Amino acid sequence: MIKESDIKPLITENELQTEIKKLAEKLNEKYKDEEVYLICVLKGSVMFMADLAKHLKMPVKMEFIRLSSYGNGTSYSGKVNAVDIKLPDLNDKNVLIIEDIIDTGHTAKFLVDFLNHNFRFKDLKFCALLDKKVKRAANINADYYCFEVDDKFVVGYGLDVEGLYRNLPYIGYVEV
Ligand code: IMP
Ligand code: MG
Repeated sequence: MIKESDIKPLITENELQTEIKKLAEKLNEKYKDEEVYLICVLKGSVMFMADLAKHLKMPVKMEFIRLSSYGNGTSYSGKVNAVDIKLPDLNDKNVLIIEDIIDTGHTAKFLVDFLNHNFRFKDLKFCALLDKKVKRAANINADYYCFEVDDKFVVGYGLDVEGLYRNLPYIGYVEV
């Protein structure tokens, strides 16, 4: 089991909250008083979603979906599995996907393709807390992100290693 003392600090709680607030201000400006659906991609985005949503001023609705990528520990095969995607009618809605991290981009691509296949949105945007640009394999980018990270396995603030440390208020990384 990885110990908390093995986690090297990367982004402090303060830095996270400052950038999330800045992002919320951008979104408040963009949507004004229009209704927006936030789609939280479980489990990793739960902290980000909760903190971001608290700063949003437009009428907001929340949905939660679960995807999984095959693979173990810290490596991903690129195959994405829809575990639970039950959504209301999102035709003609403003939708913001809330993700913890875009790494290879396979998950993001799968989700955006799936959503576009099923709905005709008023507007669909992708919001990631972290963007691991160096690892990108799929042809997709975040419309909004808070921090770019290097090719490190990051944990905390929703992100896990072996299911642990999602509860940390900061983000760190582990050597793998
Ligand atoms: P993808 O490679 O962009 O498809 O990312 C798949 C999923 O893997 C993300 O949504 C995260 O949940 C998880 N993931 C990717 N990189 C990391 C990491 O550095 N730490 C923890 N989880 C990660
Ligand atoms: Mg995720």
